[in-house]
Amino acid sequence: MFTIEKLPTIPSELEQTIQAVAVIEGMIQPQDSWTYQTLVELLEQDSINMLIIYDQQQEEKAINDKVVGYCLYQMVFEQAEILRIGTHPEYKRQGIASQLLSVLNKQLQACEVESLLLEVRADNKPAIALYEQQKFTVIHTRRDYYQVPHQPAIDALIMQRVY
Ligand SMILES: CC(C)(COP(=O)(O)OP(=O)(O)OC[C@H]1O[C@@H](n2cnc3c(N)ncnc32)[C@H](O)[C@@H]1OP(=O)(O)O)[C@@H](O)C(=O)NCCC(=O)NCCS
Repeated sequence: MFTIEKLPTIPSELEQTIQAVAVIEGMIQPQDSWTYQTLVELLEQDSINMLIIYDQQQEEKAINDKVVGYCLYQMVFEQAEILRIGTHPEYKRQGIASQLLSVLNKQLQACEVESLLLEVRADNKPAIALYEQQKFTVIHTRRDYYQVPHQPAIDALIMQRVY
């Protein structure tokens, strides 16, 4: 069973949870992972928060081994943005990201947020499929936004879900 929670408030648990997210980041976004320090600095901003999904079947394990997915987001008045979403490689295609987005939607709607934005690489087919399933549509394309030497540039898609 999976449970979705806000970040823990107990400092040691908070640190372990963010460490676990940074480890997953390193696995799933190796070219562009956000480090523990980056995540901590972002989370110092009042407008930024993170939902965590834990695998409760791993009862006996330490908190950091239970983290199987996360969604880092920012809320500014009536608009919100997903800054990062990720699922541990061993837990993909089990509805982790969908469950995170479902809880996020409820929270944002309760705060009277009107729309949710995100940016995704045009070649990230799994993420685009997820977002389309979650009623996001492309509202803008940033041509050749992602540039890596000796490789073709990739567009960035800006997607939006209106509540
Ligand atoms: C994108 C990502 C978050 C999806 O997480 P997930 O927990 O596996 O997603 P879910 O199991 O909730 O999938 C929901 C739906 O998304 C789509 N989807 C997810 N992964 C897919 C894949 N590899 N190929 C095609 N469709 C996919 C499917 O429609 C899926 O529904 P289905 O399983 O019933 O067919 C995950 O692949 C990931 O962490 N990727 C690396 C990080 C990343 O790219 N983040 C987004 C950056 S913008």
